[in-house]
Amino acid sequence: MTQMSLENVTMQFGPFRALTDMSFHIERGEILGVAGPNGAGKSTLMNVCTGGLRASGGQVIFNGQDITRFKRHHRCGLGIAQTFQIPTLLSSLTVGENLLAGQIFGREVRGEETGISMEDILFLTQLEDHLPIPAAQADLLTRKRIMLGAALATGPEIIFMDEPLGGLNAEEIVEFLQVIRHVREELGITIVMVEHKTRALAEIADRVLIINFGEFVMLDTPQVVLNDDHVVEIYLGKRHDA
Ligand SMILES: Nc1ncnc2c1ncn2[C@@H]1O[C@H](COP(=O)(O)OP(=O)(O)OP(=O)(O)O)[C@@H](O)[C@H]1O
Ligand SMILES: [Mg+2]
Repeated sequence: MTQMSLENVTMQFGPFRALTDMSFHIERGEILGVAGPNGAGKSTLMNVCTGGLRASGGQVIFNGQDITRFKRHHRCGLGIAQTFQIPTLLSSLTVGENLLAGQIFGREVRGEETGISMEDILFLTQLEDHLPIPAAQADLLTRKRIMLGAALATGPEIIFMDEPLGGLNAEEIVEFLQVIRHVREELGITIVMVEHKTRALAEIADRVLIINFGEFVMLDTPQVVLNDDHVVEIYLGKRHDA
């Protein structure tokens, strides 16, 4: 069942068009991978979905409602969360306080309790032992868990993750992919993840969207997409780093 739809979404930065007529559906509960060369418009695409940017044209529909003009906090209140390539945390606060801040923000923008308990978040992110530690002292994987945990604490139905595996080593990638999988399996949350590491996408994604020069190229299963000659030419040939 469709949860979010983009209909002819365009994003214009002055004379430069970063997204052109982007149309596709995100299914409830899926893990959708998004890939494409550097500068293809992947982060821009996430931002027009989460409210970091307002699309210049077209519509973003979430659960049947047109949210194109809504601000980020309003979209968060509807159940749309985002994590960033570089963990954005409240560094002077502890790990536990970061999670609480997410929960308080979620309550504020929803106007009610969020549907996800702190117990579930701690179970999924395995942050129990880190709660009293200042976030600034945490290693990269832990910082990524905190950012995901804080996003979960807002009570989302869908999370957009921008290059969640960036900077992690092979072992940490396996570990974090497992966390992401559990978020979908245990909480039924839809995951949209931008990722350059195509092997990881092939492992975790139900479907993969490829974009290039701000345009839709292909959306299908990882097997079909990652073996497509055109995709290999525009993307894998240039940056086959996984
Ligand atoms: N605020 C902005 N103002 C002007 N141009 C922008 C802005 N944000 C992005 N762009 C341009 O839009 C294009 C797409 O950028 P975007 O960051 O979405 O790409 P990306 O696919 O996420 O790239 P990467 O793989 O490097 O993260 C780039 O050419 C970028 O320079
Ligand atoms: Mg990007």
